[in-house]
Formats: sequence, structure tokens, C-alpha cells
Amino acid sequence: MTSPSLRVIGRLRSCFREKFGTPRQPLLVPGATATLTVAREHLPEHSLSGLDRFSHVWLLSYFHLNTNKMVRPKIHPPRLRGGSIGLFASRSPHRPSPIGLSLARLVRIEGATLHLAGIDLVDETPILDIKPYIPEWDIATGATAGWTKDAPFPSLNVDFSPAAAKDVKAAEKRLRVNGVEKLLRDILTQDLRNPRDRAQNANGLELGFFLHDFETRFVVRDGTATVVRLLTGTVMHKKESRAAHCARQESNLDTRLRRAGHYPLCYERNRRPGA
Ligand SMILES: C[S@@+](CC[C@H](N)C(=O)[O-])C[C@H]1O[C@@H](n2cnc3c(N)ncnc32)[C@H](O)[C@@H]1O
Repeated sequence: MTSPSLRVIGRLRSCFREKFGTPRQPLLVPGATATLTVAREHLPEHSLSGLDRFSHVWLLSYFHLNTNKMVRPKIHPPRLRGGSIGLFASRSPHRPSPIGLSLARLVRIEGATLHLAGIDLVDETPILDIKPYIPEWDIATGATAGWTKDAPFPSLNVDFSPAAAKDVKAAEKRLRVNGVEKLLRDILTQDLRNPRDRAQNANGLELGFFLHDFETRFVVRDGTATVVRLLTGTVMHKKESRAAHCARQESNLDTRLRRAGHYPLCYERNRRPGA
């Protein structure tokens, strides 16, 4: 079968810098913001006409940070805590065609740039298409939620150390935004940890994820995630060995996307000195 011809219409500039810490579904974290500038070749002055009257949009994206070597027909969603489900009964990013489907709130449009909220995608994610969310057609009357109904997202209490509370205020001032504490609460209450990863689940282990321009360090103890600090000195960098692996995984679609200006990047966190 011939490969489909897909184009990247723009790259998302999202507050999430890595997969860990990015919400597992859209709209779970209303304060998760992003912008998307539609490339000039798609004539945004014409192609975006009329979109500003919609409150929500569907984003079709390309999971460019996938590092899986193969696609498994059964996957283990975090919500099933070790249980498995068919790939096509899931929203796993690891699929034969690694294409994401996210509903986002359309805050406003400025020129060629969409301002979005409720995002579940990492910074730089290539966007393949935007479609308006149309309640008349997109809400299915009598829809059932399958296995997800019996497996709610795990939920944690969220707390801030006195130092972290000060860091939040500093971050809001520096970034000129409000609501950083609420943003972190909404992210951490979902329990980011992979239930099958024992290293992540050790009680009291300090974990971190990058958001905006800071790294959030937190610990989970007895059902409470405590934010310890927001650090601005740590950096993420491209890990060459994984980048090489990504390149080896290229399919025809990847090649097309790369030609259209997308290059897979794999990131890992730098350890704090002494951490
Ligand atoms: C479970 S997927 C759901 C995405 C979309 N709502 C869907 O249903 O297709 C969301 C997760 O994908 C991962 N993710 C986000 N952006 C990604 C990217 N560009 N490449 C690979 N994985 C990504 C993050 O770990 C995030 O928590």
C-alpha cells in the first residue's frame, strides 16, 4: 500500500518540555497552554478564516518523541495498573501510525497563531491538521466509555514545601503568568508515575519534570505529591544515542515529515549536580 502524503502545518510551542509531566489526555489540565503558528505556505490569512468563532479544535499530531522499537498489539495503560488492553481500544502514542488526536480549547487567534489551552502534547510536536470541534456532530448521544469507566485516573493530593511556594511566586513574576500553582496541582494530582516502574514508585523518591523554563522537583509519599522546589538552573539536552535510534526508526512517513522540516529529537533530563 502506498504511504499517505502528510504535511506538517506547524509545530506546537507547548509549556511541556518532555513526555514525563505532560497530561495523559487533553483538557485534564486547563492551564496547560500552547501556541501553534500555521506555516506561511498554508496561507493562514485564508485557511484560518472563520476558525475564531469556534471554542475548541481537534489537533492531529505526530508523536515525534516515540522511542519504541516495535508496536505491541496489547498495551498497559497506567490507569489499568498492570492490566492490558488492545492497542486500538487505547489512546497509546505507540501505534502503527503514530498520530495523536487531541481536543484543545481555542483561546484566541492572532494572525497565523492559535493560542490554545488544555494541551497534552510536548513542545515542538509537529501538527498535521486542525479541525473545528462541532458539538452537533462530535458529541455522540448515548456514547459508552468502555474500560475507562471502571478505571478512573489515579489521584493524589498535592502540597508545596515553603521553598516551592516561594519558587511559584518567582516563576509567575518571571514568566508574567498567573496560576502556576494551579497548573502544578492539576498536573501532579493525576499521578505522573508509571505504575509498572518500581524505580519511579519508591516512596519519597525525588522526581522531576520540565515545564515552561523550570524543572519541578517533587516527591510522592502516602498518596500526597509534595513539590519540593522549582529549579531554573537545570537543563535538558539532546541525547545523541537515542537520537540515532530515532533516526534508524524512520518510516516513509518520518522521512516525509523530516523533509517537511521536522527532525526527531529525543530529550532526557540532566541530573542536578549532586542529585
Ligand atoms: C496518551 S497520549 C494521548 C494523546 C492524544 N490525546 C491522543 O489520544 O492521541 C498523551 C501522552 O503522549 C505523550 N506525548 C505527548 N507529546 C508527544 C510527542 N510529541 N511524542 C511522543 N509522545 C508524546 C505524553 O506522554 C502524553 O502524556
